[in-house]
Amino acid sequence: MFEAVSGLGAYLLLVIVIAQYRKPRTRTYLVCPPEHFVVHYAINPWMDTSTPVDTDLAVKQWEILRETLVRLGHTVHVLPPQRHLPDMVFAANGAFCVDGVAYGARFRYPERMPEAAAHREWYLARPDHWRFVEPSYVNEGEGDFAYLPDAYGGLILAGHGFRTEPAAHSEAQKALGRPAVSLHLVDPRFYHLDVALAALDDENVAYHPGAFSAASQRVLRQLFPDAVLADEADALAFGLNLVSDGRHVVLNADATGLAGKLSAAGYQPVPVELSELKKGGGSVKCCVAELRPPLSSV
Ligand code: ARG
Repeated sequence: MFEAVSGLGAYLLLVIVIAQYRKPRTRTYLVCPPEHFVVHYAINPWMDTSTPVDTDLAVKQWEILRETLVRLGHTVHVLPPQRHLPDMVFAANGAFCVDGVAYGARFRYPERMPEAAAHREWYLARPDHWRFVEPSYVNEGEGDFAYLPDAYGGLILAGHGFRTEPAAHSEAQKALGRPAVSLHLVDPRFYHLDVALAALDDENVAYHPGAFSAASQRVLRQLFPDAVLADEADALAFGLNLVSDGRHVVLNADATGLAGKLSAAGYQPVPVELSELKKGGGSVKCCVAELRPPLSSV
């Protein structure tokens, strides 16, 4: 009995020590309000045009997400939404930025193609901060790209299988000057990398192995032996579609299992309700593009 209690005590102490070690880093984000969000076409298995969407509720839930990011101390820029572009709320798809370079998106489906220009204009309007690189290959921005500045000196993780073309991975590597590791997504429910894997801090990730091919699972195990592993229920609750500042992990409120695993690993889960946007096949991360400004301006 005494041994069991002291074992538990040692475990709790360890969790507290790790939690102190998780340091948040202030971020800059770009978001777009879901004022025109509806589900009038279906381009992923989550979208069902016969399910009604409450756009006002989507806006309210999104506003809480925006406020949460601000309350955590981050800078949040807002991209004006456009009528007839209902998926524009998923701002993460518009580009992929590393150290002041914005590698633009090129969407797979015609319904979303015009969104790329809205993002391009945003970067081009700020030439002192951003160098914009026009892509030649289909890629959906941070939907399929993640960046870990302290892993192996700066590592890009790049998904393919449903949206982004593998050729875009080498194009991103060239544009951003960081190695890009290609990961093959095999489950259509996890059609973007950012619903299957997330950066938790500058060097570690959480992911759901079942979303990846056997070879990509092997690659992930080799690169990230300390990763937080998410099960299918976590992934289906959009738990991995999270935004972390290295300590606070903003994630879908339904992902209670993953929240527990993150707490045990010393992170602080910050749950948010995003039920309406789930009908579009997205959650927290899809709504939030991280703007990584030039290192000199940090
Ligand atoms: N309806 C959108 C699509 O299928 C959802 C995009 C979600 N975004 C993301 N970063 N995973 O394209």
